Amino acid sequence: MTKSTNITWHESTITKHDRRAQNAHSSCTLWFTGLSGSGKSTIANAVSNELFRLGINEYVLDGDNIRHGLNKDLGFSEHDRTENIRRIGEVAKLFVDSGKIVTTAFISPFRSDRDQVRALFEEGEFIEVYIDCPIEECERRDPKQLYAKARRGEIRDFTGIDSPYEAPKKPEITIDSSKVTVDEAVGQILNYLRDNNII
Ligand code: ADX
Repeated sequence: MTKSTNITWHESTITKHDRRAQNAHSSCTLWFTGLSGSGKSTIANAVSNELFRLGINEYVLDGDNIRHGLNKDLGFSEHDRTENIRRIGEVAKLFVDSGKIVTTAFISPFRSDRDQVRALFEEGEFIEVYIDCPIEECERRDPKQLYAKARRGEIRDFTGIDSPYEAPKKPEITIDSSKVTVDEAVGQILNYLRDNNII
C-alpha cells in the first residue's frame, strides 16, 4: 500500500528501449534462488565477470551485501524476508529500466515473493535461475559455518533447517551446482541469454 499521496509518476524522456539500443544489448534480471551455500553468489559473480568481459552493462546485487546497507533493518522472519525480496525486486526493476543486466543472489525462499517480483517485469525480463543443490551438499560445504550454528541452535529460522525453502516450479534455468562446474554454469546462462536475443 502506497502511503504517500500527491505524488506523480514521471516518465523519463529517454526510455529503457533507448538505453538498450545504445548498449546494443537488451536488459533483464537474472534472479538466482537457492539455499545458503548452494553457490548463488559464486555463480552470479562468475556470470558478472564474463558479461563484463564481453562489454555488457551489468551489475550484481548480493544478499549479504544488501543486508549491510539498504536492508540492514531487516532480519530473517517471514515478514522481513518478504520485505527484503520486495525491495530487491524494485531495485532490480530500476536496473532493468537503466538498460543493465542485473543478477540478484538472494535465497528468496518463498515462491509467492518471487512471483510478486516477476509480476513487476515485462514478459521475458525476469529470468528465474534455480541453483538446485541438495541440502546435504550445502551443509557439507557450509562456507560460513552457518549450518553448524543452526544445528547447534545458535541461529533460528535458518533456511532448510527450521525455515522453509520453496523450490521454483518452472524456472527459466536450473543449475545443479553439485554436478556442474562454475564455468559450465556460466556457459549455460550465457547460452540462455544468447538464445533469447538478450545479448
Ligand atoms: S532471504 O531469505 O531474505 O532471501 P538473503 O539471501 O537476503 O535471504 O540472506 C541470506 C544470507 O544471510 C545467507 O547466505 C547467510 O549468509 C545469512 N543468514 C543469516 N541468518 C540466516 C538465516 N536465519 N537464514 C538464512 N540465511 C541467513
